[in-house]
Amino acid sequence: MLFIKNIKELIQVEDKKNNFRAGAKMQELKRIPNAWLLIEGEKIKDFGPMESLPADLPSGLKECETIDASGKMVFPCFCDSHTHIIYSGSREIEYIDKIKGLSYEEIAKRGGGILNSCLRLRQDSEEALYEAAYERLEEMKSFGTGAVEIKSGYGLDTENELKMLRVIRRLKETSPLTIKATFLGAHAVPAEYKGRQSEYVDLIINEMIPMVANENLADFIDVFCDKGFFTVEETERMLMAGIKYGLRPKIHANELDYSGGIQVGVKYNALSVDHLEYTGEREIAALKASETMPTILPGAAFFLNMVHAPARDMIRAGLPVAMASDFNPGSSPSGNMQLVLSMACVNYRLTPEEAINATTLNSAYAMDCEKELGTIAKGKRANLYITKPIPTFEFMPYAYGSNKVETVILNGKVQ
Ligand code: NIG
Ligand code: FE
Repeated sequence: MLFIKNIKELIQVEDKKNNFRAGAKMQELKRIPNAWLLIEGEKIKDFGPMESLPADLPSGLKECETIDASGKMVFPCFCDSHTHIIYSGSREIEYIDKIKGLSYEEIAKRGGGILNSCLRLRQDSEEALYEAAYERLEEMKSFGTGAVEIKSGYGLDTENELKMLRVIRRLKETSPLTIKATFLGAHAVPAEYKGRQSEYVDLIINEMIPMVANENLADFIDVFCDKGFFTVEETERMLMAGIKYGLRPKIHANELDYSGGIQVGVKYNALSVDHLEYTGEREIAALKASETMPTILPGAAFFLNMVHAPARDMIRAGLPVAMASDFNPGSSPSGNMQLVLSMACVNYRLTPEEAINATTLNSAYAMDCEKELGTIAKGKRANLYITKPIPTFEFMPYAYGSNKVETVILNGKVQ
């Protein structure tokens, strides 16, 4: 058992569990000032205000490991529902090209971008990829992240896509973070299929998806459905094939244009549609009639200096919004969810309450973890962090750039 006492404020507490918070409810953030929390094994056993504790603690509590969190707050860990952290090398040269004015699509057309990462990843061993990704996970953890969705998509042939997914499987087995795997064979058309895009789509459908499913290597299927990448028709074919094998879609959509990606995602009951810079009334209407989580990736929009997804319009329309890091070498080389929190407030005009919901409960839903993670609730997994001394919970997005997390607890264990 682990007992945390004198918590200045316990944040994002739930009595009755919600799957997500939408619209005006995104402003709800239940907090208990001067609180205690008890962890038993891997789970949250109980919590409440300090005054509810008997002055003379029951002997079980007196004896168990105790953390005094005076002046500090406790939050549920961030759930990062969209990342590409299996990669080799970095792409800062393209970053300079971008600064000089080349667009993401222009860089991709020159063989840069995803294809650049593909060439490097194919040369790397499973072991080297595992070690690099493990280190990234550790860094993300130090910033308060407790769950991460990880995509393939830099292999772009059967052998290397499977290699990436096996790395993710090994991370699931060895990392204390909760991890979900997404098959993203349709991230880009590899160089050897240039001009033969439909043949590459056939390869994904006829060879990759069955093999991925056969080894049970993925939880979800993703497609980059956007201008210059995969069309709506191709996306439909691939999603149908994935669904046949039990892979629920979670797709890249409407980052570069009104691509129809959101609508096709909704049509196939995607768990989430992600990016969403090009979201208008029609897209919002489609999302309203769905169980699909609109997911915004503030790091990518910041790093590529793109237009921002209309988060306020979505919330005003009654939609939920999730936010994730998109950690990858091309469009968002950071997995720091505290920065995402700050960007949510500054760039998307979310209130701190909404931003916390977007990066905890709603992003947990976007990776099918909301029953276990995303809030402080009895019986949920004890994935939480204790902050350094902070004056208010709003200080978390406000004090951008520094790490306000002091102690991370995953599965009930101090990390
Ligand atoms: O989510 N938009 C597509 N894919 C990634 C970028 C991957 C890369 O550039 O390596 C993204 O931003
Ligand atoms: Fe992405």
